[in-house]
Amino acid sequence: MVVDSSSVNATALSNERVLVLDFGSQYAQLIARRIREQNVYCEIIRHDLSAEAIAEKKPVGIILSGGPASVYAEGAPKCDPAIFNLGIPVLGICYGMQLACEALGSRVGHCESREYGRAVLKIGDSSGLLAGLPASMDVWMSHGDQVNEVSSEFEPLAATSTCPYAAVRHTRLPVFGLQFHPEVTHTPLGGTILHNFLYAVCGCQGLWHLADFAQQTIERLRAEIGDDRVICGLSGGVDSAVTAALLYKAIGSQLSCILVDNGLLRKDEQAAVIAEFTNHFKADLHVVEAEDRFLQTLAGISEPQEKRRRIGYLFIDCFKEEATKIAGAKYLAQGTLYPDVIESGAAKDGPAATIKLHHNVGGLPEQLGFELVEPLRDLFKDEVRKLGLELGLPEQLVWRHPFPGPGLAVRCLGEVTQEKLNVLREADHIVVSEIKAAGLYRQTSQAFAVLLPVQSVGVMGDARTYENAVAIRSVNTDDFMTADWSHLPYDLLARMSSRIINEVRGVNRVCYDISSKPPATIEWE
Ligand code: XMP
Repeated sequence: MVVDSSSVNATALSNERVLVLDFGSQYAQLIARRIREQNVYCEIIRHDLSAEAIAEKKPVGIILSGGPASVYAEGAPKCDPAIFNLGIPVLGICYGMQLACEALGSRVGHCESREYGRAVLKIGDSSGLLAGLPASMDVWMSHGDQVNEVSSEFEPLAATSTCPYAAVRHTRLPVFGLQFHPEVTHTPLGGTILHNFLYAVCGCQGLWHLADFAQQTIERLRAEIGDDRVICGLSGGVDSAVTAALLYKAIGSQLSCILVDNGLLRKDEQAAVIAEFTNHFKADLHVVEAEDRFLQTLAGISEPQEKRRRIGYLFIDCFKEEATKIAGAKYLAQGTLYPDVIESGAAKDGPAATIKLHHNVGGLPEQLGFELVEPLRDLFKDEVRKLGLELGLPEQLVWRHPFPGPGLAVRCLGEVTQEKLNVLREADHIVVSEIKAAGLYRQTSQAFAVLLPVQSVGVMGDARTYENAVAIRSVNTDDFMTADWSHLPYDLLARMSSRIINEVRGVNRVCYDISSKPPATIEWE
């Protein structure tokens, strides 16, 4: 059994839910986030669910996402055309628009010139869906097909120079289409369009609030867990901290937290987590001091995947050993988020294909015989952060940059030793402190130091040195699937470099990593 919060939402928010039918768009999650930002609960579901099954979920609106296929290609994903006759407003975006228009008698074909990037939208009818918008605005296009001819029942609302039907409305049914993407930031007024769809077209009231979600989830967890004990692993990251905070509010002393100190954490990380969960939340916290065991298992190992594998196994061993000491534990709490649930294909009625098996889904609980508690499985990362603040966690913990499970080991290239970890930890601390001091921590998504297995010649004082090189990595990203290197000011880079070389013994050279992802990844290993 999995105790999660979805049944809470189902009862409390069933009057106001929007469904996104996913046709394989890279933006389906972004659409759902944008809807929730407007205080309307939104779920992503399979595109091929029957109209009947969709109606049973009682959505107030349906959004058809974009997708990579051509609607006229063989095997192209389709929705049940009966959804257009449910009387529920439908908004098709890009592929979704082409699908809706084709299903309702319009013609879709190749564009003369494929359109990727910014375009200027000229609005002909600024009422309803496009109310409150200027006559001309920037939008983001990304398509090779478009609606070339609309049936007499469609009305064009807006056009670009190459796309005559950039926004359309059906005259008889509550069906709308947008060829561009209102959900991306490159469509600066896209939020107004989504707001119009939700509030003017679907009649939403805006019932989705995180404070209510927190309260309802706490009550629900309390009722379902009863007198049983729950174990929660803390990693120093925001997801596990918010999971633990939520559970602490629900069941207090019945919660036992485990922090495995693998010696691969950032500077002062262990102390910060301990302080938070013993001073603020008076949780039962078990700290497993396993630094030596991790160093031993990593000794002589340079291959990145082998490092990860060893760290993963040893983590499970350490966690298990501690967990079995905690008498009467029935549940294991995990900070699984909505994107993990979607990506693992485990979402209720979610996309069928398993894209990847995420490390948070499966594994530990089955091995330990625990039932799983996943109170965050309906939330996106930014919602988890807001929830953390709502629950009283400090800003510095809630806004901490993400940190990989294998920790500093994948940033200490080659063999991991205590000595190298000490150098790396200090250099990393300088990078992060300087970014914070420059007021750029929240504007960057992940910033850290990497210790390279390279020595180079330098000169300090009058003496020749032959020491390590450190790379600074700082990236900006929304989803961590793609990322750009942060364009940090030169004087900030200069301060980091000079502080690292002066303050960290064993480093005489600092480089800045200017690779984007893809083709590079964020981590170096
Ligand atoms: P990459 O290096 O794949 O990283 O571009 C994308 C994001 O994932 C984090 N990451 C991990 N997180 N276990 C984790 O929990 C891992 O093994 C792992 N590897 C990478 C990385 O820090 C970045 O945020």
